[in-house]
Amino acid sequence: MIIAVDGPAASGKGTLAAGLAGYYRLPHLDTGLLYRAVGRAAARFDNTEAFEAEAIRAAQHVNLDDLNPEALGSAEIGVLASRVAVIGAVREALFDHQRRFALRPGGAVLDGRDIGTTIAPDADVKLFIEADSRARMERRARQLEARGVAVDRYQLFHQIEERDARDRLNPNGGFFPAADAHLLDTTQLDIEAALRAAVAIVDGVMATKAPRF
Ligand code: DC
Repeated sequence: MIIAVDGPAASGKGTLAAGLAGYYRLPHLDTGLLYRAVGRAAARFDNTEAFEAEAIRAAQHVNLDDLNPEALGSAEIGVLASRVAVIGAVREALFDHQRRFALRPGGAVLDGRDIGTTIAPDADVKLFIEADSRARMERRARQLEARGVAVDRYQLFHQIEERDARDRLNPNGGFFPAADAHLLDTTQLDIEAALRAAVAIVDGVMATKAPRF
């Protein structure tokens, strides 16, 4: 079973995808980490002409086994990730890693922006997670504060909105709900309730696919 989980920054899609992977015992890939690793690698060339070429080079050398969520989690790396994500050659270079992961025997859960539309259009279940910007900002702020990072909520809110705009308008992306995606709004849900709702959707979809005798 392949489960695609898409949604905007800090919508809770990563936590949900990890929860679904645990529940169904499937491997999980947070595809944002690939873009974050590329953004971080190109960071020192920011504001130079070399930025794009360095991002492409980093994308061609990215290694799935070297992705460290702790080291890549900052809001600043998130912004760099969304900037390298508009480069078509970066997306192309990252495509195979994601596709291979999706096609692992036994299935997988992937979360990102374009999983249901581009990486795994053939996924068995597609979820598109939403939550309003303010709720998303507050969640991300608490995650960062739990790691000891001081947070300016005003700045974080603007960062999230700016990132959303760039991601949604990405000329090389596929960031919109797939036609067959199930929308899940988590604004009013805590993690457990969101996971229960996601499991109910997955079970419901899979029940309709069960072989009939
Ligand atoms: O999910 P995240 O916040 O870690 O993602 C960081 C950035 O990477 C996001 O702003 C856009 C980009 N991204 C993408 O374009 N496609 C994906 N499948 C995953 C992330």
